[in-house]
Amino acid sequence: MHILIYYSKATRLMKKADLDLLLEESCSWNAVHGLTGILAYIEGTSENHKEARFMHVLEGAEEELNIVFEKIKCDSRHHQIVLLKKEHINTRTFSQCSIKHEHIDLSANLNLKAFFNLDNQLLQSEAFKGSDAALDFLKSF
Ligand SMILES: Cc1cc2nc3c(=O)[nH]c(=O)nc-3n(C[C@H](O)[C@H](O)[C@H](O)COP(=O)(O)O)c2cc1C
Repeated sequence: MHILIYYSKATRLMKKADLDLLLEESCSWNAVHGLTGILAYIEGTSENHKEARFMHVLEGAEEELNIVFEKIKCDSRHHQIVLLKKEHINTRTFSQCSIKHEHIDLSANLNLKAFFNLDNQLLQSEAFKGSDAALDFLKSF
C-alpha cells in the first residue's frame, strides 16, 4: 500500500455546491478502487485578497493511486500541483474518503501563512517534503 500527498492552487474559489460535487465524484470512484484519504480545501485571506488551496492525502494500492493522480492532474479546477510525498506504508491512517473545508485568516496566523501563502519555495524544499508536516496538518482536521 502507498500514500500520496500533493497540494495545488484552486483555479477559482469553490462554493459549497462545487465541493459537494467534487466529493461525490471523487469518493464514489475512490470507494470502488479502495482509496481512502482526506481532501482539504482551504481558503485564506491575506490583505483583503482571498485565494484557495487544496491539500490531499490518498492511500491505497500504488497502481490505483497512479491512475487517480493522472486524472486529478488534468483537472481544470486546480493547477500548480506539487507532489509532496509518495511512499510505501503498512497501514492506513484514514478509514474513508472525505473533504474538509476551512477558512483561515492568514494575516492572523503566521505559521499557516508560511504554509499556505503560496510559498512554493518553502513547500518545495527538501526539508518540508521529507517532513510529516503536511500529513500532520491533514490529520488535525
Ligand atoms: C482537488 C481535486 C481532487 C480530486 N480528487 C479525486 C479523487 O480522489 N478521486 C477521483 O476519482 N477524482 C478526484 N478528482 C476529480 C478528478 O480530477 C476527475 O474529475 C474525476 O476523476 C472524473 O474523471 P473522468 O471523467 O476522467 O473519469 C479530484 C479533482 C480535484 C480538483
